[in-house]
Amino acid sequence: MPAVITLALSKGRIFDETLPLLEAAGIRALADPEVSRELVIGTSRADVRLLVVRAADTPTYVQYGAADLGIAGKDILLEHGGAGLYQPLDLGIAACRMMVAAPEGFDYAGSVRRGARLRVATKYVKTAREHFGAKGVHVDLIKLYGSMELAPLVGLADAIVDLVATGNTLRANGLAAVEEIGPISARLIVNQASLKVKRGAIQPLLEAFGRAVAARAAGNR
Ligand code: PRP
Repeated sequence: MPAVITLALSKGRIFDETLPLLEAAGIRALADPEVSRELVIGTSRADVRLLVVRAADTPTYVQYGAADLGIAGKDILLEHGGAGLYQPLDLGIAACRMMVAAPEGFDYAGSVRRGARLRVATKYVKTAREHFGAKGVHVDLIKLYGSMELAPLVGLADAIVDLVATGNTLRANGLAAVEEIGPISARLIVNQASLKVKRGAIQPLLEAFGRAVAARAAGNR
């Protein structure tokens, strides 16, 4: 019996953009998580199964070995801290930017220069704390779980730290990006013990993913 390989990933953009990579490795998902309520999805390979998890939980499943592999945004990995995980491959999918944003017309740079204390709402508390700490900006962080763009509109915060892809959500809410924290994309993560124990099964998968990513990057040039 070959070792079973379990890959944790979240539905939505990460799942959709991972399907072509799996196909390049000869693996086809047998259900669509947008349709099926199943959380364990089989694949065309009897020894590979998928776990459908909340995006923020992916590193946890892999850290504890409940999944051997995972696909997680760098935003999530920064918050998790990466303990117990190898991060061998930037898949270049689900790309966006982590930004500081504030209402249009808000003098963010001036406030920072004056040493004002800013209220910042975010789901990414650890990332925000490190970013503002490194710049010596005084902030009070308010933890939210989504729809951060609302916070400055109703006086909950002066600014937000959030992901920006097209910029449509910021524009629709009268906000503008004022500072980039960094680029974000999804990474392949691997449980460190799994890689040792199941290397024979995992290594070919990592190589197939690596080839698919390189081929797509070459096609985009
Ligand atoms: C993400 C992010 C922004 C939006 C950015 O939210 O938090 O709100 O997408 O995309 P845009 O620049 O293309 O408008 P998501 O829909 O993932 O939900 P969330 O609020 O739960 O994070």
